[in-house]
Amino acid sequence: MKSFWSLLIVSGLLVWARAAEQPDERRPHPITWDAMDKAVEAKSGDQAAGFFFKATNTSQQPVVIASVRPSCGCTVVDLPAMPWVLAPGASGVLSATVDFSGKDGTLAKSLIVESNGGPQTLTLRITLPPLDEEARRQNQMTARADRQAVFRGSCVECHVLPAEGKTGEDLFHAACLNCHTPTGRASMVPDLLVAHGHRDAVWWRTWIAEGRDGTLMPAFAKPRGPLTAEEIDSLVAFALSHLPTEAKTN
Ligand code: HEC
Ligand code: HEC
Repeated sequence: MKSFWSLLIVSGLLVWARAAEQPDERRPHPITWDAMDKAVEAKSGDQAAGFFFKATNTSQQPVVIASVRPSCGCTVVDLPAMPWVLAPGASGVLSATVDFSGKDGTLAKSLIVESNGGPQTLTLRITLPPLDEEARRQNQMTARADRQAVFRGSCVECHVLPAEGKTGEDLFHAACLNCHTPTGRASMVPDLLVAHGHRDAVWWRTWIAEGRDGTLMPAFAKPRGPLTAEEIDSLVAFALSHLPTEAKTN
């Protein structure tokens, strides 16, 4: 009889201990989203994709969303109000716009939502269409005849407009990585993330401002190209601080 009672007490303690051990994981988060992960297929010529996430407070208490942080500067979030308070049972929508100009392949961005229910992560996926091979061949022919052609006519839509008003890293993404993409680059376009020798400010500034005659690398400096001296300085500063300045020795 004595062992029966001690067994009961021990198992009771175990149940209690286990319940105390996992407080939050078993309790559902007060905010339920229509989806935590959304995907968009971009059309050729698109520069940005819009996402909408609907939040519903499924708890009995009000929830307060204090912040929504995007994983990159390319994502702009639009919220109903700050702080964003959801009464029990209430719903609201946040929208996010991801600027993917100059990118290719598949992108995944995220939003960290901080609320009194704890952090949540929303994932935004974008699949970009490959550039039409025929259009690409024609564009290359046009650029071979005149490397500055990329700054004129219909080329502007993808090679100039996305870069307007940007500096530093954002400008590098919008103006340079469209040709110098890490993946899917044409064979005559070098990978800027790899140094083959010493790369100092003069080297970067000369390449950007003047490009090279007889190749597809255009001169970006005004008046031949679209960039001011300040914009080029911001690219040089970004390259020196974020890209390798010396060739790898091993
Ligand atoms: C719809 C957007 C778009 C338009 C319009 C466009 N380009 Fe491009 N261009 C790109 C992308 C994207 C790449 C990079 C392709 C890749 O890496 O997959 C590129 C790459 C290039 C390259 C590097 C070689 C290559 O094939 O990758 C040259 C040169 C070029 N474009 C010239 C031009 C010229 C000249 C025009 C106008 C006649 C033009 N482009 C119009 C998007 C565009
Ligand atoms: C229209 C396509 C195109 C665009 C846009 C473009 N480049 Fe280039 N770039 C090239 C090509 C092609 C070469 C190879 C030139 C050669 O054959 O020597 C090149 C070469 C270079 C080089 C020399 C790399 C090396 O290792 O020799 C640098 C540096 C460079 N580009 C920087 C930039 C920067 C920075 C930008 C943005 C401001 C940019 N490029 C935009 C096509 C492009």
